[in-house]
Amino acid sequence: MANGERAPTIRSVQVVAVINYKGGVGKTTLTANLGAELARRGQRVLLIDLDPQSSLTFCFYHPDEWRTELRQERTVKRWFDSLEDGVAGVALTDLVVHPGPVNAALGDSGGQLDLIASHLMLIDVDFRLAATVGGGADPHNPALFRLHGALSAALHASEFDSYDWVLIDCPPNFGVVTQSAVIASDHIVIPAKADYLSTLGIEYLYGHVADLVSRYNDEVRRHSRNRHRRIDPNVAGVVFTMIQFHTGRPISALQYYIDQVRELGVPVFTTYMRENNTLYARPVPRGLPAVLRERVTSQISIELRTLASEFLNILNAEGAAA
Ligand SMILES: Nc1ncnc2c1ncn2[C@@H]1O[C@H](COP(=O)(O)OP(=O)(O)O)[C@@H](O)[C@H]1O
Ligand SMILES: [Mg+2]
Repeated sequence: MANGERAPTIRSVQVVAVINYKGGVGKTTLTANLGAELARRGQRVLLIDLDPQSSLTFCFYHPDEWRTELRQERTVKRWFDSLEDGVAGVALTDLVVHPGPVNAALGDSGGQLDLIASHLMLIDVDFRLAATVGGGADPHNPALFRLHGALSAALHASEFDSYDWVLIDCPPNFGVVTQSAVIASDHIVIPAKADYLSTLGIEYLYGHVADLVSRYNDEVRRHSRNRHRRIDPNVAGVVFTMIQFHTGRPISALQYYIDQVRELGVPVFTTYMRENNTLYARPVPRGLPAVLRERVTSQISIELRTLASEFLNILNAEGAAA
């Protein structure tokens, strides 16, 4: 290294966006269980709930607690509301909360599970943000560019370096909020059901992500002197959810769609999340995702742990290759 050149700062925190523009495909269930399992293994995990339905938030807080403790001051809505031309007036770090029951259940693993909660009134944020940037027809809208990069910039605050993983649970659409999460991410995970519409949707979603990344990087090039950085999120793969098994394999009607997605060239996790209407039913008892609630020997625990191991293998390999 030449004299005076500084070594690049290597951030060990990995940001993962969990996306699918369909609702009810298991995004939140996957985010909560993966986060809990990584924390159980001693990792420091931050979950960010960007969905106005707030299901991830309610995995860890009772709605009454949310109302009294979080609603006013401690939700991501406050951060979005404070955005002025892509710069937030509120520090994202001020919104981080530390849910009690789940952290108590981690025991002495050394892991940690934090959350930035959502707000039921986040529903209009996409419309409001779109209105503030205006100029829908302008491909080089600088206000939209700054808005797109806002979450990424916020997550680059040094306080977030203390985490190993940031998992972002996205709303079921590809609006500005989801786009800003994709731009903030190192990796993308796509939970999906194995059915016709989901298969179709994955192809579109892939296209949308690729298009967003290339448009954003074009803008980074145009604004080369500002603080925005080039992005290159990896699609880690599709996690098939709500799978019914027969003799140890997905039933053939579902296997057909899994194969279809593979044939598209989309990476697919080899571990599936099986359908289980009792365990994944809401509300989540005691604020604990299934992976922390179940006996370690239960089929669901084993499956979720295998999934977390596969997630770590894939993402760590991607991180090493980057
Ligand atoms: N593997 C599963 N088996 C059965 N029900 C599930 C499973 N995963 C999720 N669910 C249920 O399906 C609904 C949608 O799941 P959720 O994770 O909230 O999806 P999304 O975040 O994509 O909207 C929830 O009621 C959840 O409890
Ligand atoms: Mg959800």
